[in-house]
Amino acid sequence: MRIPIIAGNWKMYKTPAEAEAFVRELAPKLAPYTNVERVVCPPYLAIPAVRSALQGTAIKVGAQDVHWENEGAYTGRVSPLMLKGWVEYVIIGHSECRRDLGDTDETVNKKVKAALAHGLTPIIACGESLQQNEAGETRAFVSQQIRGAYAGLSAEQALKTVVAYEPIWAIGTGRNATATQANDIIGGVVRRTLADLYGNEVARQIRIQYGGSVKPDNMAEYIAQSDIDGALVGGASLKVDSFVELVRITAETVK
Ligand code: 13P
Repeated sequence: MRIPIIAGNWKMYKTPAEAEAFVRELAPKLAPYTNVERVVCPPYLAIPAVRSALQGTAIKVGAQDVHWENEGAYTGRVSPLMLKGWVEYVIIGHSECRRDLGDTDETVNKKVKAALAHGLTPIIACGESLQQNEAGETRAFVSQQIRGAYAGLSAEQALKTVVAYEPIWAIGTGRNATATQANDIIGGVVRRTLADLYGNEVARQIRIQYGGSVKPDNMAEYIAQSDIDGALVGGASLKVDSFVELVRITAETVK
């Protein structure tokens, strides 16, 4: 069985002090929902404070990006060696990093390999633009992103990854993909591509999240779908009450 995973991507929100206060309030409220994996991905600078505040809880910490080199002349970047021991997850290839920081399928692939080499679990983000969606290019594009991200990875490594399908047009817009649309791409494209690469048995075990305007109102519909194993959440993960609701609804739907 695939354990559902709800991850909050806080993007460039919350100072270290705000992030620490937030998780101190959040952690006890999430504690009952042990059948769901619960992850927060704060900005880099807040990671130490968040991690120490979550010590002794089951809530995991993730980073929002990583470089592929251990060290070097890469101003502004953070390496997997630096994240090791601080986080268990790292989001790689988020559309905002592809748009603003130059991520490509090649750099995503290098980052995935680097994360795995340091024992970090990559949450590999993929998803098409509105223009691609309207041109009917979604399936080919997402499949190509998955093939790019997993190039050269063994089945054993693939099993240590999570995918997040986040259509760009649904991110922060309130215009979410319907649950059946999302399930169609997640099952029919992402999981099918993974099955082409690694066989059904491996593909069946890899967790795939949906992301893009996930809210307490629509969470139940997503998690009820056959191929959707959780959510990567921006806006609704920034408030304690809505984060708790997302996890509670997931826990109760998969029971
Ligand atoms: P929203 O939940 O704010 O639409 O953001 C989704 C996202 O980009 C998570 O990585």
